[in-house]
Amino acid sequence: MDQDSKKTAVGRAAAAEVPDGCRLGVGTGSTVNRFIDALAERGVALACVVSSSEATTTRLQGHGIAVSDLNSTGDLDLYIDGADEIDGAGHMIKGGGGALTREKIVAAASRRFICIVDDSKVVRVLGDFPLPVEVIPMARSYVARQMVKLGGLPEYREGFVTDNGNVILDVRHLDIVDPVRLEDRINSIPGVVTVGIFGHQKAHLTLAATDDGVRRIEY
Ligand code: A5P
Repeated sequence: MDQDSKKTAVGRAAAAEVPDGCRLGVGTGSTVNRFIDALAERGVALACVVSSSEATTTRLQGHGIAVSDLNSTGDLDLYIDGADEIDGAGHMIKGGGGALTREKIVAAASRRFICIVDDSKVVRVLGDFPLPVEVIPMARSYVARQMVKLGGLPEYREGFVTDNGNVILDVRHLDIVDPVRLEDRINSIPGVVTVGIFGHQKAHLTLAATDDGVRRIEY
């Protein structure tokens, strides 16, 4: 099965996990786009929907799904999002699309996180995928030097501005053996808005599309 078909399969499987009356948070990315399409097709009656990016908001609204402000909804039942890498415990690297900060906020406000990926993203140790770090623009060089001190090779994502008006550093060569510790360490650097390690906001269930169908991995 090609990657495109896997995204469609896992998007459909995720839509089947959303109950009527759900207070739903929606992530960002090409896999989530398939989920949104499948959700609209199923016609689930949702209590409210909170989006993690401008791109997701546009897609939801395109299907006639109203988007609520997180400040007015309170906590959510379920958050569904993709990932760039996910390890055996449900820790993730996210932010390849640059939406990491809003994604982490909506994930934190949700009781349950379902991660949707194709099986190529399931890894033993996080870190092959360059780690995105959202940074306040004036702190870019300072934060980059701190990344070098941690053993990383930061690269400025040229020409990209996040929905929050910030910039992204993509950091290579980090072996993320203790995701929660590294998440805390990087998040404590002044100028960092958030790092794309989802150690605290890990997944509760992963739906991983394989050649033989969608595999469920519970943590
Ligand atoms: C967006 O910022 C990311 O966190 C995405 O969730 C991640 O990059 C997965 O995107 P794809 O589904 O497009 O691979």
